[in-house]
Amino acid sequence: MLNSFEVKRDTFTISTDPSRLDLDAICGFLARAYWASDRPRDRIERSLANSLAFGLYDGTKQIGLARVVTDYATFAWLCDVFIDEAYRGRDLGKWLMDSVLSHPDLQGLRRWLLATRDAQLLYSQFGFEPLKNPERWMQKYNG
Ligand SMILES: CC(C)(COP(=O)(O)OP(=O)(O)OC[C@H]1O[C@@H](n2cnc3c(N)ncnc32)[C@H](O)[C@@H]1OP(=O)(O)O)[C@@H](O)C(=O)NCCC(=O)NCCS
Repeated sequence: MLNSFEVKRDTFTISTDPSRLDLDAICGFLARAYWASDRPRDRIERSLANSLAFGLYDGTKQIGLARVVTDYATFAWLCDVFIDEAYRGRDLGKWLMDSVLSHPDLQGLRRWLLATRDAQLLYSQFGFEPLKNPERWMQKYNG
């Protein structure tokens, strides 16, 4: 798989280079996120090591994240989408989404999934829609 995906805009870079990920910054993001505020650091580290993480950087400072759990063939789960509060409302979230969905190794998948409390109108701009047959879906939720 490619490990060199990178796009630039002004002072900003989106990169999937794992060596650029700033674990302290990411733990800070997730501590402030409603879905992961109690996720331990070692779980975060393991999750990053085993998925395709897109870091968003202003210069060298990490200011955003999106994480994709995928088999690179049929399916991808998009999660941990976060933009630093100081950088919100500047189209960076949309650029991050666009970059994730245009990654060359994530083309032709049968299905993308995500869960969101209130950002439906962000994701619907990129083709996501509510489950058509939610009764066919099940989950085993461990909190
Ligand atoms: C959601 C988030 C990633 C958006 O990033 P951003 O850089 O501020 O967003 P952008 O400037 O690219 O614009 C987002 C677009 O989605 C829309 N939107 C819909 N729901 C939204 C929400 N809950 N929060 C932010 N934007 C939302 C905005 O109106 C905007 O659309 P528009 O330009 O057509 O008006 C960012 O606000 C964030 O990190 N929020 C906290 C964490 C979070 O909720 N993540 C998503 C979890 S599923």
